[in-house]
Amino acid sequence: MQRGKFISFEGSEGCGKSTQIRRFVEMLRGEGREVVLTREPGGTVVGEKIRHLLQYDPEAANLTDESELLLFAASRAQLVRELILPALEAGKWVVADRFCDSTTVYQGIARGLDTDSVRRINAFAVGDALPDLTLLLDLDAATGHARAVHSSGPVGDRMESQPLAFFEAVREGYLTLARSEPERIAVIDASVGIDEVSARIDQVFRERLKR
Ligand code: TMP
Repeated sequence: MQRGKFISFEGSEGCGKSTQIRRFVEMLRGEGREVVLTREPGGTVVGEKIRHLLQYDPEAANLTDESELLLFAASRAQLVRELILPALEAGKWVVADRFCDSTTVYQGIARGLDTDSVRRINAFAVGDALPDLTLLLDLDAATGHARAVHSSGPVGDRMESQPLAFFEAVREGYLTLARSEPERIAVIDASVGIDEVSARIDQVFRERLKR
């Protein structure tokens, strides 16, 4: 059985990731592929509980940056072993809404945790489950943040309450990461119309993964 392909989507808040992922998965399924769609944090029963804790639980307000990092890693370690690896080994394709690049950028760069520790914790959590292709939807931080706050309404999540400078660091962090791994990470301009973004994703996918 040929191992399936693993594709992750990354980007800061309000970049249009959810819409693009939905379209991309529809396209893959339309081509007859069996696709498992998942998200981080979350994607498993344990992971969804961690997601709730990380994003919405008021009792987690005093979570330290180190605990936050380890909770994201715990959610990922569970997701990899419970869902991603079995799916890939069964020949299915996996599409993930965020993966370890989010930790590298949000916890390592924007929160400023030690880069080497973040890298080792990421490696421990994912083992050999690394994406074949990562699509980074790039949008300027102010536009993205305004869109995210608008769409989530009055009950925003914990990250959304961060200052704009945090999201500027996230954007720059992603772009730096993409420059260091250009063969895996493709940068997609997310400032253009929805159809144009989808077309560009489709083009990159065909150039890089489709045989
Ligand atoms: P979203 O996927 O619904 O946009 O929300 C997930 C939030 O969690 C988002 O603000 C990014 C953040 N996050 C991290 O800080 N580190 C991580 O490793 C992951 C997966 C997400």
